[in-house]
Amino acid sequence: MAEHKVRVAVIGASGYTGGEVIRLLLEHPGVELAFLSAERSAGATIGSVHPGLRNHPRAAGLKFRPLAQLADVEPVDIAFGCLPTGTLPVQLPQISPYAKRILNLGGDFRLRDEAEVASYYPKTASNPPSEEFAYYIPELSPSVPESRFISLPGCMAVSTVYALYPLFAASLVEERVVVDAKTGSSGGGRGSSESPAERSGNFRVHKLHGHRHAPEIRQVIAEFTGAAMDLRFSTHSLDVARGIMVTAYADLREGVTPLDVKRAYAKAYVGKPFVRVRPAPKLPQDFPMLKAVVGSNIAEVAVAVRDGQVVAVAALDNLLKGAAGQAVQAMNLICGFDEAAGLPSTAVSP
Ligand SMILES: NC(=O)c1ccc[n+]([C@@H]2O[C@H](COP(=O)([O-])OP(=O)(O)OC[C@H]3O[C@@H](n4cnc5c(N)ncnc54)[C@H](OP(=O)(O)O)[C@@H]3O)[C@@H](O)[C@H]2O)c1
Repeated sequence: MAEHKVRVAVIGASGYTGGEVIRLLLEHPGVELAFLSAERSAGATIGSVHPGLRNHPRAAGLKFRPLAQLADVEPVDIAFGCLPTGTLPVQLPQISPYAKRILNLGGDFRLRDEAEVASYYPKTASNPPSEEFAYYIPELSPSVPESRFISLPGCMAVSTVYALYPLFAASLVEERVVVDAKTGSSGGGRGSSESPAERSGNFRVHKLHGHRHAPEIRQVIAEFTGAAMDLRFSTHSLDVARGIMVTAYADLREGVTPLDVKRAYAKAYVGKPFVRVRPAPKLPQDFPMLKAVVGSNIAEVAVAVRDGQVVAVAALDNLLKGAAGQAVQAMNLICGFDEAAGLPSTAVSP
């Protein structure tokens, strides 16, 4: 357990994930919010930009400051990078000297393959980092990374990984997997240009091919299980503000039984407080769903097997277990706090 309060900066604190990091840390017993950056909202109080925070007693007087002023405060222990993808590579020299560790929520430094970085993250490819970013999933990484720079997983990528990891870790399925991912509108960030009128009452395709989380999923499954994966990954836009649901379809290998599958999920997530396998779901409400996870740091997972086919589902809150909650969980483990400190495990329902 850290003996002093951990000094934290939130870089990109006026955005959706930054706001959620602040909300969680306002309730965290071991953290001091030392610096909150925003550019267009510099000078504003946090409550004026994030109305949900304006009544918190610790929020009174907290204001956003431009990133350039990070140099004026005592170096922080942890900086949460909540910047739009493509921005951290450019701003890293402004942050790195003033932060002992950076936890990056953005997509820039997740992929290792240079050709894939160039293809999916061209701004990152032209601004390579001075040090390597370790990729960290609290439930799957063998240990907390020692690196100063840590990247957290993408929201749809990690939802898919939670659904599929036990099947590949136990070598239960063939390589071909089809994944259908559905996400809420906050996944696009505060700067999304999509009109609410187009999203409201609608359900539509986001991307059928070429989503940048597909190579990340392949990379994670390869690194954490050694398995190759023939992944077909499509995404759709839900008419909800928050939440991701993925459905993954695969074929079981010859001789694999439903009991093998059940055991693989139990083994993969035993002792992992924030990934919950739904026990023996039968009715629709027994399966993972948004109303069981939105507002919480929980990822729900379930699996169904019949006639050699397996369907795995996962649901989580993109802004929490898919972003800010995952990052606070990582901070807790890095700093020696209780893994669950400041993290809700109940959802907002109905
Ligand atoms: N939204 C999600 O569900 C989700 C989930 C997982 C990961 N992520 C990743 O997390 C990152 C942040 O996403 P978000 O949804 O929170 O984005 P967002 O709502 O658009 O917020 C972006 C933040 O970055 C600041 N910013 C923008 N350009 C900047 C610049 N050039 N220099 C310094 N600050 C700048 C903005 O401040 P001002 O507007 O005040 O200037 C704002 O505070 C992205 O990389 C995203 O891919 C998002």
